[in-house]
Amino acid sequence: MTDRTILLTGASGGIGSVVAEAFAGDGWRTVLCARSREALESTAQTVSAAGGTPVVRPLDVRDEDEVFNALLETIPESLDVLVPAAAVMPHAPGERPLQEEHYEDVRAVLDTNVYGLFAVIREALQFMRPDGRVLVPSGSVARDPKPGMGAYAPSKAAVEALARGFALDIDQSVGIVDPGFVATNLTHGKGRDPASVAELFRWAALECPAGDLDGNIVGLREWKQATR
Ligand SMILES: NC(=O)c1ccc[n+]([C@@H]2O[C@H](COP(=O)([O-])OP(=O)(O)OC[C@H]3O[C@@H](n4cnc5c(N)ncnc54)[C@H](OP(=O)(O)O)[C@@H]3O)[C@@H](O)[C@H]2O)c1
Repeated sequence: MTDRTILLTGASGGIGSVVAEAFAGDGWRTVLCARSREALESTAQTVSAAGGTPVVRPLDVRDEDEVFNALLETIPESLDVLVPAAAVMPHAPGERPLQEEHYEDVRAVLDTNVYGLFAVIREALQFMRPDGRVLVPSGSVARDPKPGMGAYAPSKAAVEALARGFALDIDQSVGIVDPGFVATNLTHGKGRDPASVAELFRWAALECPAGDLDGNIVGLREWKQATR
């Protein structure tokens, strides 16, 4: 058992929900955030059934005041691990060339994926232990262009720059976790089973040396090499 606390945004589905479940076995206090309360309650049931202690707190990451209030309400002492996984992609991967990208979608993607991630990390730092860890989910499209990704790919490039900047500027370890292509709502169900990448995040949070994580990208290869 443990008295440690993890907070995940994007915990109402996809990668966020399976990562939350992966921490349940050791009894972590697991703070689950996203916009949909109903979907968060469903993740909470899974976390509870696996032995964890879930706390459901709906929020919109685009509202920094709401983010701060959520942290104030849900983090009684200190935060050990932050997984800011909330993100949107308003079309299927490969479907939207940049020249056809809609202005309102560019705004929504940057607001959620970049501004929202910045707000979550910035506000959470006030509650984080000095040796806490921030695991920023990202993918290879941030670095290797693929056609039809619209504003999503540039948003993840910005997210990676933010993670590297925080890694330099703060005491806590901030790493980019790249799980490969995962079958979630974001990818319209294409990719590997989300459950197969949950342990990657657990490893990044608990076992990966802080120096290997901080300011770096850790992915399936690093995880498998370390745990082989
Ligand atoms: N799937 C992949 O192949 C892949 C690969 C590399 C990295 N990633 C990254 O992994 C993370 C999780 O992605 P996923 O594939 O699990 O996507 P997903 O299944 O679509 O989940 C996205 C989550 O973000 C939440 N969300 C969206 N807008 C929000 C907002 N304004 N405020 C709060 N929560 C919000 C959604 O919940 P609500 O709608 O209820 O708010 C949902 O829980 C993202 O950062 C993504 O970029 C994904």
